[in-house]
Amino acid sequence: MSDVRFDGKTVIVTGAGGALGRTYSLMFASRGANVVVNDLGGSTQGEGASKSAADKVVEEIQTAGGTAVASYDSVTEMDNAQKIVQTALDTFGGVHALVNNAGILRDKSFAKMSEQDWDMVHKVHLRGAFCMTKAVWEHFREQSYGRVVNTSSAAGLYGNFGQANYSAAKMGLVGFGQTLALEGVKYDIKSNIVAPIARSRMTEELLPPEVLKMIEPETVAPLVGYLCSEECQESGQVFEVGAGRVFHVKLHRGAGFKSGAENGVASLEEIRDNWSKIMDLSELTAVNSLQESTMGFIQ
Ligand code: NAI
Repeated sequence: MSDVRFDGKTVIVTGAGGALGRTYSLMFASRGANVVVNDLGGSTQGEGASKSAADKVVEEIQTAGGTAVASYDSVTEMDNAQKIVQTALDTFGGVHALVNNAGILRDKSFAKMSEQDWDMVHKVHLRGAFCMTKAVWEHFREQSYGRVVNTSSAAGLYGNFGQANYSAAKMGLVGFGQTLALEGVKYDIKSNIVAPIARSRMTEELLPPEVLKMIEPETVAPLVGYLCSEECQESGQVFEVGAGRVFHVKLHRGAGFKSGAENGVASLEEIRDNWSKIMDLSELTAVNSLQESTMGFIQ
């Protein structure tokens, strides 16, 4: 079989100066893509800015013989997003894939979380992905081709103490990515979601060295590369990825409980008395769409 290649394709990677984004960018460039290396270059908490984060990665790509251009704008504003996409168009004449990867943390227990901690995290992850995707969407539709990868997190999929803001934004990206998949069908736009685990400044102080050495960003990049390739026909799916493993994640529901009341209005006691049936997950059904979800109620 031939290699997965990106010759003639342009990929925008946001947060590309960081651990995962840098690795994605190097991987895309090594396989022939033109890469827009976007990074604001701030702290993990989203403070400050520096051109050096993106510049360093562009330099690395160019030294290795690849093609890349730096972009330093924050993804949180629509004007910036359009500017980033324009950089792709002006420099490389097109845009074919977008990896929404930029991210920050403002970890605090919910009791201590300020409105700003909530807003900032949502702004970068969720609004950033919205602005960037909005800016490429028309191009993708016009050329009937596009690939989008949104970055979620296990903290979003399962919740995590001290990350109410981040978890909510990361689960928001799942819904966003799944809906884009449906709206992209007609235009060969594939949209998938990854929840990575990787060594980065976000995880370096949280995980022990023996785990960190298993989860180099290079163990995440191949899936993101494949999802952005022309060969990938998958869309609307969620994957956990890292340490050489890829898990397909899908919501399922149990057999459930149906009230004996003719009008469907159970008593509170009926709910209480059937609690074990409601919670029973021994018979699982995958739910692939809102329609399948609805059918489960009315069948
Ligand atoms: P990182 O901190 O090394 O990379 C994030 C990059 O995003 C940084 O270089 C930062 O400057 C950039 N960035 C932040 N705000 C930006 C903005 N407004 N505009 C443009 N760039 C901006 O961290 P890492 O681990 O590489 O994270 C990449 C993505 O993966 C993030 O979305 C993160 O939430 C997600 N993630 C990472 C996990 C891990 O285990 N490392 C786990 C789950 C999710």
